[in-house]
Amino acid sequence: MKLNPKKMKLAFIGIGNVGFALANNLQQKGHTIVVASNDDHSETVQKALHQNVHFSTKKIQDAIDEAEVVFLATPFQANESVLQSLSFHGKTLIDCTNPVGPGISHGLNSVISGSEKVQEWAPDAKVVKAFTIYGFENFANSHYPNYSQQPAMLLAGNDTSAKAQTASLIADLGFEPVDVGGLDQALHLEHMTLLWVKRVRRDGHSPHFVWGYMQRD
Ligand SMILES: NC(=O)c1ccc[n+]([C@@H]2O[C@H](COP(=O)([O-])OP(=O)(O)OC[C@H]3O[C@@H](n4cnc5c(N)ncnc54)[C@H](OP(=O)(O)O)[C@@H]3O)[C@@H](O)[C@H]2O)c1
Repeated sequence: MKLNPKKMKLAFIGIGNVGFALANNLQQKGHTIVVASNDDHSETVQKALHQNVHFSTKKIQDAIDEAEVVFLATPFQANESVLQSLSFHGKTLIDCTNPVGPGISHGLNSVISGSEKVQEWAPDAKVVKAFTIYGFENFANSHYPNYSQQPAMLLAGNDTSAKAQTASLIADLGFEPVDVGGLDQALHLEHMTLLWVKRVRRDGHSPHFVWGYMQRD
């Protein structure tokens, strides 16, 4: 996959744990961050603007209109209402959200992926699933000093150019982008998320671990 090293204007819908960790790290790598929010009183938006003075904020549709790539980092259950009135004009929408159900189960009963639902709710976006298989701690800091290999970041989507943009951002953050195929593969990434979440949030392992991808020719 050819990577595009260009620095981009990125809009973030949702700037909590995941959104801020990614936006802050990407801003430090030279990208321009616009926080997309219609709520002037949002605590996470105010906190993000305070913690990184290089962020700006705009109404969600205005932020999308001027961004090259949009990140979705909201609670999954908010997605349908957030997305239904927005126009993406064919832009890349990186879906960082996970449908999580009771007992850390798949929130859509493993029948369909959350990302395929996001694509249904945002039909004029090019949806790519990425930045979901680890906790936000690893998006804030993707440096693992005892290893020469970069950690893997799996991505899935139906559009080649949208995946190339996403892979470029993944690489900029120090992960190895691994394209695992079309958006139908997102369901399996969501199960990988549940594996990580159960191991860390339920079973008490350190959140500062990721997976590596090794291939023999
Ligand atoms: N936490 C993790 O380690 C992790 C890792 C990978 C993926 N994920 C997934 O990433 C997503 C975000 O997780 P998080 O931990 O970052 O959550 P979070 O800290 O609760 O942040 C959620 C963000 O979404 C915003 N938001 C909530 N409802 C909204 C709505 N109706 N319209 C617009 N914005 C809305 C919140 O704004 P307000 O503050 O104004 O409510 C906040 O900025 C979830 O889908 C989660 O499953 C989480």
